Amino acid sequence: MREVIVAANWKMNTTPADAPGLARAIAAAIAEPEVVRVICPPAISLAAVAAALDGTGVAVGAQNVHAESAGAYTGEISASMLAGLATWAIVGHSERRRDQGETDELIGRKIVRCVEAGLRPILCVGEQLAEREAGHADRTVRGQVEAALAVALRAGPFPAGLVVAYEPVWAIGTGRTARGADAAEIAAVIRAAIGHVASVAAAEATPVLYGGSVTSTSAAEYLAEPAIDGAFVGGAGLKPDEMAAIVGRAALTARARRGA
Ligand code: 13P
Repeated sequence: MREVIVAANWKMNTTPADAPGLARAIAAAIAEPEVVRVICPPAISLAAVAAALDGTGVAVGAQNVHAESAGAYTGEISASMLAGLATWAIVGHSERRRDQGETDELIGRKIVRCVEAGLRPILCVGEQLAEREAGHADRTVRGQVEAALAVALRAGPFPAGLVVAYEPVWAIGTGRTARGADAAEIAAVIRAAIGHVASVAAAEATPVLYGGSVTSTSAAEYLAEPAIDGAFVGGAGLKPDEMAAIVGRAALTARARRGA
């Protein structure tokens, strides 16, 4: 039985002064232990948010990690630096693919660094609008998953604790959302890709989340899909009441799975 996960990506929002208070307010609103809950604040607030969330059951995630272990990389943060502060790390977010030109090969190396440091990677994948309209969404996502995992699998066994987040680029921050059935179809594509490069057992064990304008209104559509194991939330992840409703809905899914 796969975990049900709700992760909030705060992106470049909040300051070190206000992040701990917001984290505490969200944690108090999402006290649902059946759901794996993760908050990913900006790197500069990781320590303060980790302290604020101590004892709440809500985990801390980094929004990025460097592809090298250490060295002359000014301004960068390695997986081992994050390890004391976070237990999760986002890799390959579409905003970094777009703005920092991150490639599948680089993202694969980031997964390796996460595994070495004991961080659970959240691998983000998703197609552009033109790719969806051309009918190529499945091909794009399959390629992203297979290419990143091929790098990771050259370095070792299947990455422990890997989660894949399907985030169609056209749905991020736009208010447009994928249909639940379409997201489930891509979740199946992701599992087929994992099965192809690793094993069917790894594919079946890997949680797949949906992200892209998830709100309290749209969350149920994804959390009702057996192939989808949770939500990756951006804008709504900064709002305690929105997070309360999303995690509350996720808890229904978690309880239904346990009872099934
Ligand atoms: P929004 O929920 O703001 O669309 O962002 C989703 C996202 O990118 C999470 O990583």
